[in-house]
Amino acid sequence: MGSFLKTFAFSCVLVSVFASSYAQNCSSTSFNSNIIYSTCVTLPVQNSFLHWNYHQSNHTADIAFRHTGVTASQWVAWALNLNARGMLGSQALVAYTNSSGLVEAFTAPVTNYNALQRGTLSFNVRGLTAERLSNSDMNIYATLELPTGRTSFNHLWQIGPVSGDTLNAHPQNSANTNSVGTVDFSTAQTTSTGGSSGGSRQRRRNVSSSHL
Ligand SMILES: *[C@@H]1O[C@H](CO)[C@@H](O)[C@H](O)[C@H]1NC(C)=O
Ligand SMILES: *[C@@H]1O[C@H](CO)[C@@H](O)[C@H](O)[C@H]1NC(C)=O
Ligand SMILES: *[C@@H]1O[C@H](CO)[C@@H](O)[C@H](O)[C@H]1NC(C)=O
Ligand SMILES: *[C@@H]1O[C@H](CO)[C@@H](O)[C@H](O)[C@H]1NC(C)=O
Repeated sequence: MGSFLKTFAFSCVLVSVFASSYAQNCSSTSFNSNIIYSTCVTLPVQNSFLHWNYHQSNHTADIAFRHTGVTASQWVAWALNLNARGMLGSQALVAYTNSSGLVEAFTAPVTNYNALQRGTLSFNVRGLTAERLSNSDMNIYATLELPTGRTSFNHLWQIGPVSGDTLNAHPQNSANTNSVGTVDFSTAQTTSTGGSSGGSRQRRRNVSSSHL
């Protein structure tokens, strides 16, 4: 009985630790010294999060895509698809740890199922950077000049294996095939097929001291 009570008390401590780490909000998230994102959503699969600030005046969105638990042998990508739901035609931001051991980010308009080829997207992207933190979070940062006349888009996100500087095809399990949904930058609404989404989560970290 005594040991049951101890176990129970210990569990309560763990629960409150987890509860407090989820209770904080987007606007207090600090990714780096300069940018605080006012909106964030927990994506329904792949342990990923999208944070952003939408500026109505110039129709831009400053985004941070965060994928947790990424190894140095994996690529991650986040994309908007302006005209369709799936991968083909999507406009992707991609990051991986290259053979020099440095995180490299590039844009890739996805035109086939075989390769993520570098190229310019159908909308302008500024300030694209990425980093992989010592806690294995991979973050992609960019400012998107959103296509005119709309704030709602299909979006998708992905993770796959890297060998050397070759980004190989992602697995086909459910977490990798359900990673699509919609995002409305003006309202913070997201939907997905993969289950419920939304909510916010905040974790404060010292980005400047944890670059790899
Ligand atoms: C979110 O955090 C910010 C900064 O700490 C605070 O000013 C704001 O009131 C919080 N909002 C909510 C809904 O808790
Ligand atoms: C867009 O407008 C916001 C808010 O006025 C401003 O902070 C930001 O620098 C602008 N972005 C661009 C790319 O002009
Ligand atoms: C790795 O990425 C860094 C930063 O983008 C770049 O300077 C370097 O040339 C890349 N190395 C290779 C092998 O592509
Ligand atoms: C964050 O990193 C900076 C630069 O390395 C350091 O001066 C500062 O003390 C760190 N802050 C925390 C809270 O770790």
